[in-house]
Formats: sequence, structure tokens, C-alpha cells
Amino acid sequence: MGHHFTTHAERFDLRGKRALVTGGTRGIGMMIARGLLQAGARVVISSRDAEACAQAEERLSEFGEVRAIPADLSRHDECRRLSGLVTADAERLDILVNNAGALWDEPLETFPDEAWDTVVDLNLKSPFWLVQALLPALRAAGTADDPARVVNIGSIAALHIPQRPNYSYSSSKAALHQLTRVLAKELGPQHITVNAVAPGPFPSAMMAATLDEMGEAIAAAAPLGRIGRDDDMAGVAVFLASRAGAYLTGTVIPVDGGIATTA
Ligand SMILES: NC(=O)c1ccc[n+]([C@@H]2O[C@H](COP(=O)([O-])OP(=O)(O)OC[C@H]3O[C@@H](n4cnc5c(N)ncnc54)[C@H](OP(=O)(O)O)[C@@H]3O)[C@@H](O)[C@H]2O)c1
Repeated sequence: MGHHFTTHAERFDLRGKRALVTGGTRGIGMMIARGLLQAGARVVISSRDAEACAQAEERLSEFGEVRAIPADLSRHDECRRLSGLVTADAERLDILVNNAGALWDEPLETFPDEAWDTVVDLNLKSPFWLVQALLPALRAAGTADDPARVVNIGSIAALHIPQRPNYSYSSSKAALHQLTRVLAKELGPQHITVNAVAPGPFPSAMMAATLDEMGEAIAAAAPLGRIGRDDDMAGVAVFLASRAGAYLTGTVIPVDGGIATTA
């Protein structure tokens, strides 16, 4: 068989690719959206808040072709509606990043029922619903040489035991890691890879209270001595989405400065 060596630029090039990043209006989703845009992909971002969508679209447009579509992805019908809109102009999607997520932090004694449904619907069911609805478009995009990519944003809270009482969160993320492996096996032969990224602490609205309270201690305890930054998340996302990452599937990649990997 012929052997084709890509150039360095080709290896990380996403020009011509179409991507959807859920929760791309802020935090980790915005870091990922920016990275994909800078690599040349056309990106759709989505979140519930229409105003946040419009602002993020404007902010990200300096990096490339971006469109924001509001949707509540904790609902099955909304996942299907978004999928229809994303594929309306081209029945093809190269990269799906399931990033939108919710955290509920409350002591065991008072941890409410609602903290299960809210968190599991968005963190676990929604990535499944989006893969299901976008499957024809992912199949249409992927080839044996250059598969379509699904990237699920898990968490190191599912790799080690988190310090905070976030029962539904850490278990929803553990389930998402397992769903990643299950789907990887089934979809590999269909030229779709499925991987997860398990972030450590990154600055975001979700992490603001924790980082205000103990950010310095968390950074000091990390082998790499800091919390995550934009480039760390953009880098792993572009790697997984590009030629460079074409032979990975079913992996869970911790991006945590060594916090959980050396615990
Ligand atoms: N930051 C960290 O340290 C860290 C660590 C490990 C894992 N993670 C994971 O990384 C992902 C992003 O987290 P983040 O820290 O960037 O949080 P964030 O700042 O709270 O961002 C969450 C994003 O998801 C959107 N979202 C929330 N509920 C939604 C819904 N029902 N439907 C559609 N979109 C919704 C939010 O926009 P709207 O509010 O407008 O809907 C926002 O764009 C999550 O899966 C999180 O679990 C984060």
C-alpha cells in the first residue's frame, strides 16, 4: 500500500471541515471552538442563552466562520432540532464536540432529586442524542483514511474521587467515558472515531467558585503547578479532530497537569 506523508501543516489542518461545539459560548467550549476555527474549520456553537450565543459568535468571528444557534440540549427534541439546523445546508458533519455540561454540588444529606435529572440529562443523555441525530451526517463525512470525529468532554472527576460533593456529576462523567468506548467500538467500522477528553481545572463559570476559593492551592498541588489554559484545551481538540488524531478511538485523555494521572 502507498504511504502518504503529510506535511506538518496538513496534519493539523481543518480547512473544509464542519464542526459543532455544544456549549461553545464560554469556558472550555469556547476554547475548543476557537482552536477549531484557527485550524480552519467552520464551526457551529450552541447554548441555551440566545444573547450569549450572539455575543460569542461575534467574539469568535475574528478567528473564522462561526455560527451560533440557541438550543436547550438537555431536551431530546432540542437536540434533534439543532441537528436538523446544523445539517440543513450540508448533510455532512466532520466533528462533533459534546461539551455542554452542568455541575451540581451539594452535601449528601440534602442532595436533591433534581440534581440527578438536570445533570444526567445534559452530561450523559444529550451527547447520546446528538450522536444519534447526527449519525447520518457523521457517516457521510468520515472515510477510512480520515474518519469523522466525536469528542466527548468528560472530567477527571470520573478518574479520581473529587473533593466536592458532586455525586451526579462525577457519575455522569464516568458513564460518558464508558459511552465513549461503547460507541467507539460500534462506530469505528463506520469511519467515525469517538474519544473523550477529561479536563482538570480550567477557568470557567462552572469552576469560578471553586477556583476563587482554592485555585492557588489546586495549582500548587498539581505536578505542573498551574491550572489549565486556553491553549491546553485547543491543542487536544485540534489534535483529536485532525489527521494527527485519526488513529485514536475509545480513549479518555486526561488534560489535567498531572492532578488525577499522578494521584
Ligand atoms: N472547567 C473545568 O474545570 C472543567 C473540568 C472538567 C470538565 N469540565 C467539563 O467541560 C464542559 C464545559 O464546562 P465549563 O467549565 O466550560 O462550563 P461553563 O462555563 O458553565 O459552560 C457550559 C456551557 O454549556 C452551556 N449549557 C449549559 N446548559 C446547557 C443546556 N441545557 N443546553 C445547551 N447548552 C448548555 C452553557 O451555556 P448556557 O448557560 O447559555 O446554556 C455554556 O456554554 C462541561 O462538560 C464540564 O463538565 C469542565
